[in-house]
Amino acid sequence: MSSKITGQALVAGVCGQPIVHSMSPLLHNAWLAEAGIDGAYVPMGPALDRFEAFVNGFRGGVIRGLNVTIPFKERALACADEASDLARLAGAANLLRFREDGTIFADNTDGPGLLGAIGVQAPDFDVTAAPVVILGAGGAARGAAAALLLAGAPAVRIVNRTVSKAQAIADALGDKVTAAGEDALPALLADAGLVINATSLGLGGGEGPPADLTLTPQGCVVMDMVYKPLRTEFLQRAQAAGRPTVDGLEMLLLQAVPSFEAFYGQAPPTGVDVRAVALAHLGEGLK
Ligand code: ATR
Repeated sequence: MSSKITGQALVAGVCGQPIVHSMSPLLHNAWLAEAGIDGAYVPMGPALDRFEAFVNGFRGGVIRGLNVTIPFKERALACADEASDLARLAGAANLLRFREDGTIFADNTDGPGLLGAIGVQAPDFDVTAAPVVILGAGGAARGAAAALLLAGAPAVRIVNRTVSKAQAIADALGDKVTAAGEDALPALLADAGLVINATSLGLGGGEGPPADLTLTPQGCVVMDMVYKPLRTEFLQRAQAAGRPTVDGLEMLLLQAVPSFEAFYGQAPPTGVDVRAVALAHLGEGLK
């Protein structure tokens, strides 16, 4: 919590259900304290059946905005009066801004977080150079596909156990996005420039998706959106195959940056190592 909260404090928060595990309050309040901003960032857990009433109650500038997490991202987009291209394409919003005229603007910073994480951890990656393979077809997969498409990926291949869900994403995103089942993986991996795990496989330390990463070209970047544990079994296999890797924690940290700017009107201060803060919280030790 910021050390200085007055009657003029800028207030924002994060909502989800459950919300208790969210790391966003830790990150934003560490930044607020470091920057000496008169502001606060609070966790909120609205009832599942009252999300719309909860959001609409903030119309008119009660708070600056909200981050939105599982399971409300799609409903958050539907609550908004206007939305960014990325939020519309992703079909989901993780950032709502409450404007003084009572309207709500929806945005999606998961995409910038994903691209930013690749930029930090795999700086040689060129999104326009080769097809992307996304494993999984939930909200996280659709958000990643939308962001990569807008960033210039030549082709995005969604691979999922349930092909109909992958097909639904392809239908929503246009010709450059195609759907396939797991049996198509060997052929799709062979010319991939980026492979992303957007399934829940590997969460909590289990095995990741069964994709054989040795089939990818040298230099193919492998990313895992799962960040508990930080070095997932999937990323360990990528490393063993000599592929550059990108972890999900970096994406989580970088999606918070544009949110902070939207809420508090300035970039987060550079003097706080939020990755170390997050790692300490996750119990992984400093890296
Ligand atoms: P989110 O919205 O966070 O992306 P989700 O909608 O629950 O989460 O999606 C989870 C993804 O993990 C799905 O693509 C799911 O595959 P199905 O659509 O076939 O269910 C994938 N997934 C979860 N467990 C899996 C498993 N054991 N094998 C293969 N895919 C799995």
